Amino acid sequence: MSTKHRIYLSSPHLSGGEIKYVNEAFKTNWIAPLGLNVDAFEEALCSYIGINHAAALSSGTAAIHLALIILGVEKGDEVIASSFTFSATINPIVYLGATPVLVDSEPETWNMSPELLEKAIQERRAQSRGHGLKAIIVVHLYGMPANMEAIMEIANKYEIPVIEDAAEALGSRYKGKQVGSFGKIGILSFNGNKIITTSGGGALISDDEEIVRKAKFLATQARDKAPHYQHSQIGYNYRMSNVLAGIGRGQMEVIELRVQQKRDNFQFYVKNLKDFPGIKFVPEPDNLYFSNRWLTTILIDPLLTGVTREQLQDALEKENIESRPLWKPMHLQPVFSSCPAYLNGVSESLFNTGLCLPSGSNMTDDDRQRILNVLVKQLRH
Ligand SMILES: Cc1ncc(COP(=O)(O)O)c(C=O)c1O
Repeated sequence: MSTKHRIYLSSPHLSGGEIKYVNEAFKTNWIAPLGLNVDAFEEALCSYIGINHAAALSSGTAAIHLALIILGVEKGDEVIASSFTFSATINPIVYLGATPVLVDSEPETWNMSPELLEKAIQERRAQSRGHGLKAIIVVHLYGMPANMEAIMEIANKYEIPVIEDAAEALGSRYKGKQVGSFGKIGILSFNGNKIITTSGGGALISDDEEIVRKAKFLATQARDKAPHYQHSQIGYNYRMSNVLAGIGRGQMEVIELRVQQKRDNFQFYVKNLKDFPGIKFVPEPDNLYFSNRWLTTILIDPLLTGVTREQLQDALEKENIESRPLWKPMHLQPVFSSCPAYLNGVSESLFNTGLCLPSGSNMTDDDRQRILNVLVKQLRH
């Protein structure tokens, strides 16, 4: 094992501006899940994304859970969702006793195939087992925007609300508009490995004031307006702390720089690896797509490269460099294997050959060179 420092897939990258806001929370004794930092962080998110309302929450998973509740998802309902994602997209559907209907990817963006989405809606509706199709969760995986024009057209045609899981995609745009702002509700994550972090946290965003008001209400134990504690609904403890929102404020001051740094990582890998036969990247399909390149990913054809994904991962690990296979699609997960799924083989094939490369916005030139040296040594010219 190498004695050199570990290079992570994507580690927190502080701007230095965070501590001022965290100190403010301490000085003013506003360390509860309320306060100036929470308000200011929500405002910063709204103005950056170009959306009217935001609720800062304890995680992206909590945001998805609340989004589903607000859209009326109940036991026995169905929710269509991208299969190629992290399990946190799907788990909240099951928390509510609803059934995830998994939809495979299109090859262009690796995100939900509009064609399969429409097929899924038609078949579920035709079967009409009395269960409502209450929502569609579209993921913008690794920062690449999904084909929102086609997806919104289908969702509008069948009148099903869209939740955009933009956990990995803050800063990504489709047709110049920030992802998360197309659907009825968007969700974000500020988990430690995301493009900006609050150590842990998330947000629910919407142009609909009533939706975000409801999210804040449910996230603070659903207290009715009364002088005593009164509850007419089940609530949750999902609000973000004012201390963590202080970190978020400092992080939002450098979001555009972070997007540029992530995109520079991608360009570095493309420039240095594109001529190796058997290595493929996922390009932005055209200039309507702008990815924050949260993680740079490659596809490896072992017949052409002479090396498997596992061998590449092992070689990096020996040099104390973290890399990971792409997300294992949800329809291949034991826990979701009985869910209805609309498949075309795309996400399974991506999973079989794909690798996430270290993509921290805080990597140095030396770090990048260290990674490249390992990769180049392994790949056949
Ligand atoms: C696609 C996706 N959805 C949802 C989440 C959940 O976010 P959190 O970890 O903040 O709960 C994550 C990341 O963790 C994610 O990558």
